[in-house]
Amino acid sequence: MNTSTTDVTVLGLGNLGQALAGTLLRAGHIVTVWNRSAGRDRVLVERGARPASTVAQAVAASPLVVVSVLDQPAVRQVLGQAGPLLSGRSLVNLTSGSPRAARELAAWAGEQGAWYLAGAVYAVPQTVGTPEATIHYSAEAGVRQRWEGLLEALGRGGRTRGWRPPTTWRSWPGCTGCWTVSSTRRPWPRPASPRAS
Ligand SMILES: NC(=O)c1ccc[n+]([C@@H]2O[C@H](COP(=O)([O-])OP(=O)(O)OC[C@H]3O[C@@H](n4cnc5c(N)ncnc54)[C@H](OP(=O)(O)O)[C@@H]3O)[C@@H](O)[C@H]2O)c1
Repeated sequence: MNTSTTDVTVLGLGNLGQALAGTLLRAGHIVTVWNRSAGRDRVLVERGARPASTVAQAVAASPLVVVSVLDQPAVRQVLGQAGPLLSGRSLVNLTSGSPRAARELAAWAGEQGAWYLAGAVYAVPQTVGTPEATIHYSAEAGVRQRWEGLLEALGRGGRTRGWRPPTTWRSWPGCTGCWTVSSTRRPWPRPASPRAS
């Protein structure tokens, strides 16, 4: 379990990303932030976050990269700007999407040499970092354990489900675009030998 100060990058500063970055700052981590549109990092930077002007600069700053943007195509657009810098880093994707998109992104991240953690957020932004927020993660055991302490700061338990995919995800009432993991039977594609950072 990792509970010490860590460099962590947050890509996407919408409602959820702002809450995630703010919580990580409050937990004492060194947080680098990036958003497509300028200005959304202002309050976070006033609180000590480090602004990045490009995705590449943001990704290069930290071994752990949290992504929270609109949808999975946006995730690919954003991460595609990091190029080879993704290799050896851990990606936590908290963006909602379909199981198929999640599997495709996991395979793509593995091809880049990145460790991949898929997250399902059961929370509204106001509750991130409190016991009212639950976030489930799917990832290989080693990378889960490496970041467990940090991820627990974001929501209750930071519970993980192993490197297995949701076979059926249900939409979450009250949160358009959110999905609930309801079954985990088939294995996800494994990363293509990601390197430890
Ligand atoms: N809010 C919730 O309660 C909640 C709960 C669970 C899960 N989620 C999921 O978390 C994700 C983010 O939600 P949110 O509430 O933060 O959404 P939001 O407030 O609408 O913010 C969307 C973010 O995505 C960015 N974005 C959109 N398209 C992009 C693109 N093509 N390239 C780069 N950045 C792009 C936006 O950047 P700009 O500022 O430049 O527009 C903004 O930072 C979604 O998948 C959502 O379903 C949200």
